[in-house]
Amino acid sequence: MKLSASDFPEVPLLEMHDVHLQEVEMINAIYELIMAIESGKSRRALLDEKLDELLIHTQAHFANEERLMLEANFPPYAMHRNAHNLFLAELQAAVSNWKQEQAIGPIDQFMRFTLPRWMKDHISTMDYVTAGYLANQLRNE
Ligand SMILES: [Fe+2]
Ligand SMILES: [Fe+2]
Repeated sequence: MKLSASDFPEVPLLEMHDVHLQEVEMINAIYELIMAIESGKSRRALLDEKLDELLIHTQAHFANEERLMLEANFPPYAMHRNAHNLFLAELQAAVSNWKQEQAIGPIDQFMRFTLPRWMKDHISTMDYVTAGYLANQLRNE
């Protein structure tokens, strides 16, 4: 099962929504690689590469939201940043575990369940509220 664009709720700030959609594409490409590996194809090095790209993209995604919140003096900044940091640590652990153990099961579980569940929940709550606040501030400038 792949993700579709509508799986991540559309937040009311285009700059943030676009980044989420880019991640849907990257995650789906990773699903294809995992399936290829599960069916015996040698795509392990490519999966390493795509997971690293997702990690870097996610770091930039979070850092940009944090920058926007700081610039806007958004009060729940610390709480939102903390949620990012906790998830980044989980993602980093899942990727380094895959690289060390080369076990496809755990990374498959993480990518298919843990990551999309967290993303949907985070985007529909913290990101949604943050984007609404930022969009409103931009309108009032
Ligand atoms: Fe986000
Ligand atoms: Fe966020």
